[in-house]
Amino acid sequence: MNAGRDVTDIFESARYASTRLPIEQASPLPPDVYFSQVWYEREIETIFRKRWLVATREEEIPNPGDYVRLDIIGEPLIILRDTDGTIRALSASCRHRGAELLVGSGNCRKITCPYHSWTYSLDGALVATPSMKAAEGFDKTEHPLPSVRAETWAGFVFINFDPDATALIPSLGGLVDRLAPYDMGEMVVTKKWENRFNANWKIWVENSREGYHVRTVHKESLDTFYPGAIRTAFHADGEPMVYAINSSDNENGLYVPRNHTLPFVEGLSEQDRESTHFVIHYPHLLLNVPPDRITFHQYFPEGPEWTRITSWCCFPKSTVERPDFEHEAEEKYYPSMDLFLAEDKGICEVVHRGIGGSLAGFSRYSPDEERTVHEFSNYVLDHVVGPADPT
Ligand code: FES
Ligand SMILES: [Fe+2]
Repeated sequence: MNAGRDVTDIFESARYASTRLPIEQASPLPPDVYFSQVWYEREIETIFRKRWLVATREEEIPNPGDYVRLDIIGEPLIILRDTDGTIRALSASCRHRGAELLVGSGNCRKITCPYHSWTYSLDGALVATPSMKAAEGFDKTEHPLPSVRAETWAGFVFINFDPDATALIPSLGGLVDRLAPYDMGEMVVTKKWENRFNANWKIWVENSREGYHVRTVHKESLDTFYPGAIRTAFHADGEPMVYAINSSDNENGLYVPRNHTLPFVEGLSEQDRESTHFVIHYPHLLLNVPPDRITFHQYFPEGPEWTRITSWCCFPKSTVERPDFEHEAEEKYYPSMDLFLAEDKGICEVVHRGIGGSLAGFSRYSPDEERTVHEFSNYVLDHVVGPADPT
């Protein structure tokens, strides 16, 4: 769509001076950062390869040998549980001539390459290499599968490509204590949605965290998003990377249906019983926490113009065990998710198509409605271009 549109000064901080201004004066990022291949590659390098990314839920790999195969920012990975229970994130590329070692999900005692049967143990060690005796100086112990870091919080499995990154829990800052009452580790996955959008990943994030579009795009499905929203910023690891937005008015709000029948999580405070937390854990997790369940979205950029999104819904185990659970979830909870995912997919692609032309250009943010979009734009600039000039 945008071949040849990369401008030579795209990393010049002066280009973004108007986005750096306070929101009352600021302008959105210029359109080309949503199309440029070089900008995209810098985002992958400076953001996605440095931060903790959600890979899956622990319950997807409950037993030793369980695995899921994921492609994350162009890296084929195997997320598995080793025999001692350790969760690992291994390269899925065979060290012989690169064949993809596993597909989908399943259970294995060893990983055997489908091409020439080189075999790896679950910790990635290369343990069998048929017909390699004549290969001079070849020592299979020198060729394990590369791995990246894998750590867990509240049932989520996160990975990180950066060996020097702060450990996961401290990098989550105040979020860990704030969401502890929800006991998310005890929740179980009840439904997943897979979508692929013809839109830049930033359009999806921006759309996800502002309520400005709701009365237009979701007028049939949601209508009242977070009236009276209170925004809280958690600063962690030296960065303003996690935000919670509390919504009041659950009876009419986004995530708790009117006349709901499924129970709230036990022991929540009065405030939490009347709130939905909308969390961004930059760059990759959008987590919505109403009082009765969680939903979350992982988004995997696939080049500047495509984004694959997996959306999940999890309920407390005790709720799932209720005889009326399935009926209630299908009737009252999932349909709105189906609808607004379709509406958001549609509008993200509308935006992406609209900003592709040479005449596109943006004017200003709504200070009342787009504070999170402005903050997100500045987060991207901090990483891709460098920190704002303090003067
Ligand atoms: S590519 Fe895996 S054994 Fe040859
Ligand atoms: Fe939306």
